[in-house]
Amino acid sequence: MDNSMSIGVIGAGTMGIGIAQVAAEAGHKVIVFDTRKEALDKAVAGLRGLMDKLVAKEKRTRADAEALLGRISTAENLEQLAPCGLVIEAIVENLGVKQDVFKKLDTLVAADAVLATNTSSLSVTAIAAACSRPERVIGLHFFNPAPLMPLVEVVPGLATAAELGQQCIALMRDWGKTPVLCKDTPGFIVNRVARPFYGESLRMYEEGIADMPAIDAALRGVGFRMGPFELMDLIGNDINFAVTKSVWEAFFYEPRYKPSLTQQRQVESGRLGRKTGRGFHAYGEGAGAISQEVPKNADAIVERVLAMLINEAADALFLRVASKEDIDLAMTKGVNYPKGLLAWADEKGATHWLAVLEKLQARTGEERYRPSPLLREHAETGTLFHV
Ligand SMILES: NC(=O)c1ccc[n+]([C@@H]2O[C@H](COP(=O)([O-])OP(=O)(O)OC[C@H]3O[C@@H](n4cnc5c(N)ncnc54)[C@H](O)[C@@H]3O)[C@@H](O)[C@H]2O)c1
Repeated sequence: MDNSMSIGVIGAGTMGIGIAQVAAEAGHKVIVFDTRKEALDKAVAGLRGLMDKLVAKEKRTRADAEALLGRISTAENLEQLAPCGLVIEAIVENLGVKQDVFKKLDTLVAADAVLATNTSSLSVTAIAAACSRPERVIGLHFFNPAPLMPLVEVVPGLATAAELGQQCIALMRDWGKTPVLCKDTPGFIVNRVARPFYGESLRMYEEGIADMPAIDAALRGVGFRMGPFELMDLIGNDINFAVTKSVWEAFFYEPRYKPSLTQQRQVESGRLGRKTGRGFHAYGEGAGAISQEVPKNADAIVERVLAMLINEAADALFLRVASKEDIDLAMTKGVNYPKGLLAWADEKGATHWLAVLEKLQARTGEERYRPSPLLREHAETGTLFHV
């Protein structure tokens, strides 16, 4: 896979056009297809607008911007993607619809072309099963906005050819991205390991440990760019709730990922976040400033969220979802965590984090605080995750 190969992108929404830009920046010819002509027009106009702004700010030359735009063309039917060596699908998150597209693609492209999905929550293996050659299907999970976020989770399915993972890692590096290799498991690395950032914060609010602005301030205080409630408002409570619910269901109702009733009520009331002007916080005119005051119990708040995040990272490592290096890279490069969670765990040692979890489990009797066997092992042996 080199940059003489044409790249196909299916879906000209938020992710599709971002991925098209990344591939074109790397020198590829890119063909973007969407079933809605207006989506294609809007995406191309948006990219042109972005290039105009960058030229105006002297961040790139006009010639450079035109060359980039010149490498991206649009297609009115899927057949026009036939010459592509790699096709990346970024359409609606629906297994049946994705399988239909992959089934058609399978017969269109060359036998050695690679078919990738940008799915966030579906099984790559299930999507690949729609193809006659599932060995050339892989997950390439970009983060939003794709041109700015470095992380790409590279996810081979059960039937993916052994060498394709490494080939895609090399290609993503050529594209200037930070790829990590992970198993085809629900939420991959980031959307699995990050669940407690939201879930445990919601839980602490429910227990009356602190109010939402205080929990946000406490976590910002240790280097998270945004607190959990402001971040849920930015992502959209409907989206964040749906991701949590899908990870929980996909893990056969694992109690550690149980969604929050507080967030469900928020969604039911239409308080979706910034996009509706009201979420956990209020936005826009007359909303008043959100308190930035760091609460007195900030340390306890941070410890509880961190213990849960570290436990998730340890458990992902225990279950060989990815290497320890990739688990830490994923959280710093995909969601801007200030440090990798396993490196963070090492600062106080596994014994400390195990004690936080055991105390919570003893108090509540709940499975959600069940320590990962690997965290326990590191506590018992006194060893670090990163040696
Ligand atoms: N938005 C994110 O933050 C984000 C991040 C990572 C991954 N993803 C994943 O990327 C994918 C796309 O998400 P998005 O946010 O860009 O969606 P979006 O709604 O912005 O865009 C989807 C586009 O796909 C088009 N489409 C739908 N069905 C199609 C079909 N059968 N053939 C061709 N085009 C079709 C739609 O017209 C639309 O323009 C999803 O799988 C999502 O889970 C999203």
